[in-house]
Amino acid sequence: MPHKVDILLGLQWGDEGKGKIVDVLTPEYDIIARFQGGPNAGHTLEFNNIKHVLHTIPSGIFHPDKINVVGNGVVIDPTILMREIGELKKMGVDIQKSLCISRKAHLIMPTHRMLDSASEAEKGKAKIGSTLKGIGPTYMDKTGRNGLRVGDIAMPDFDQRYAALKEKHLKLLSAYDFEFSIEEDEKKWMEGIEAMRELRSIDSEHFMHRELQAGKRVLAEGAQGSLLDIDFGSYPFVTSSNTVSAGACTGLGIAPRRIGEVIGIFKAYCTRVGSGPFPTELHDEDGELLRKTGAEFGATTGRPRRCGWIDLPALKYAIMINGVTQLHMTKADVLSAFPQIKACVAYDLHGERIDYLPYDTHIPHLKPIYEGLPGWNCDLTELREEDEFPKELGQYISYLENALDTPICIVSVGPKREQTILRKPVHAT
Ligand code: GDP
Ligand code: IMO
Ligand code: MG
Repeated sequence: MPHKVDILLGLQWGDEGKGKIVDVLTPEYDIIARFQGGPNAGHTLEFNNIKHVLHTIPSGIFHPDKINVVGNGVVIDPTILMREIGELKKMGVDIQKSLCISRKAHLIMPTHRMLDSASEAEKGKAKIGSTLKGIGPTYMDKTGRNGLRVGDIAMPDFDQRYAALKEKHLKLLSAYDFEFSIEEDEKKWMEGIEAMRELRSIDSEHFMHRELQAGKRVLAEGAQGSLLDIDFGSYPFVTSSNTVSAGACTGLGIAPRRIGEVIGIFKAYCTRVGSGPFPTELHDEDGELLRKTGAEFGATTGRPRRCGWIDLPALKYAIMINGVTQLHMTKADVLSAFPQIKACVAYDLHGERIDYLPYDTHIPHLKPIYEGLPGWNCDLTELREEDEFPKELGQYISYLENALDTPICIVSVGPKREQTILRKPVHAT
C-alpha cells in the first residue's frame, strides 16, 4: 500500500512558522513539495547557528538525500530562484540532485512585477498590501490562459512567446500612471532562464504518482495561510492561490484520496502583514509587546506585522475548510511576556453574539468577545519535554484542544529546530 501524502499548512494569515516545522519533520519524509504561492512566501529555518529564509524552494532542502519538489501550482521568478540557489550553493547544498521543478509551474515575468506595483499604486489606500512579487498578475495570466510555463523554456518559440506577452503587459501598463524601467530586471531574468535550463524539470503529477507507488513518504508544504486563500480568505485582501488543503491536490497533481494527515499550524496569537480585516488586532501596548517579543517583521518584505490575540472562530473555520487532523502551535514562548492571555471566542455584531466569521469581516462593528486565561510568566525557550511545561501552559493547550476539537501534537517554544516539543505522534500509522 502506498503511503498517503501529508499536508502542512498555515491556518491564519501566513508566517505561522511553517518553514521551521517542515524542517523539523523532514527526516520523517522522502519528498517535500511546495504546491502553491511563490516568492511572496518567506519561510525561516534556524539550526546550527544558521538562520535562512526560503522563498520558492521547499523547506526540506537542508537535509541531504531528500527530494524537494516545486509543484505546478507554484509561480516562479527565475531571478529570485537563482538568487536562492546561489545562496544555498554557498552553504554547500547540492541543488542539482535534490531540487525538481514542475514543467507546468508558471513563470513570473519582470512585467508581472511591474503590473503588481502599478495596480497597488493605483489602489492607493485600498491597496491589498501585496508583497509586489508579481503573484496576482502571474496567476491572472495563468487563469486567463496567457501564461508562460517552465516547460516552455525548452520550446523553440520561447523568445517570441515571451516578447508577445511582454508587449501585452506593456500595453496594460500604459493605462496606469506609473513609471518603470525593466531593462536591468529583464537582463537578470534572462540569465535566470538560462540557469533554469540546467535544473531538473519534472512532470510533477507523474513524478508524485511514481514515487508514492514506490512507497515514498511525501510532505506537501503550504505557503501563506488559510485566511489568505483566494476563495475562503478575507477577499479581496488575499493572495491569488488556493492556500487550503485542496490546493495540494491541484498544485501537485495528487488525487484527494491520496491525502493523509492535514497538519494545521497556528501561532499562539495572531499576526497579519498587509491590509485587510483582522478582528482581534491590538493597537495598544500589548500589540507592540507581541511584535517586539515575537520579532514580528515580514521575512520577505521586512514590514512590521500587525499583531493580536488568538481568534478561535477564525481558526475553527480554517480547520473545517482544510479538514485539519492535527494542530501544531508555534511561538508559545512569545506569550510568556503576558500575565493574562486572551482568546477571542465569538464576535459581537451590532449587539448580537456570533461564533463564526461573517461574510464581511471588515465591518468596524465586529468586536471580538474574549475569554481570559492565566499566563505562565516564565521562559519556555529551554523546555524540551511536555512534563516541564508550567501548569498554565498546559491549561492553555487543553483549552485550545477543547475549543478546536483537534489534538495539538507539536508545541514550538523558539525558532530553532531543537525548540520543538512533540506531545503526540504526528503519524497516524
Ligand atoms: P512561515 O512563513 O510560516 O515559514 O513563517 P516565517 O518564517 O515567515 O515567520 C515565522 C518567524 O517566527 C520566523 O522568524 C521563525 O524563525 C520564528 N519562529 C518559528 N517558530 C517559533 C517559535 O516557536 N518561537 C519563536 N519565538 N519564534 C519562532
Ligand atoms: P508565508 O508563506 C504573510 C500577504 C501580503 C498581502 C497579501 C497578498 O511566508 O506565510 P501577494 O504578494 O500574495 O499578492 O500579497 O498576502 N502575503 C503573506 N503574508 N506570509 C506570507 O507567506 C504571505 N504571502 C502573501 O502581505 O497582504
Ligand atoms: Mg513567512
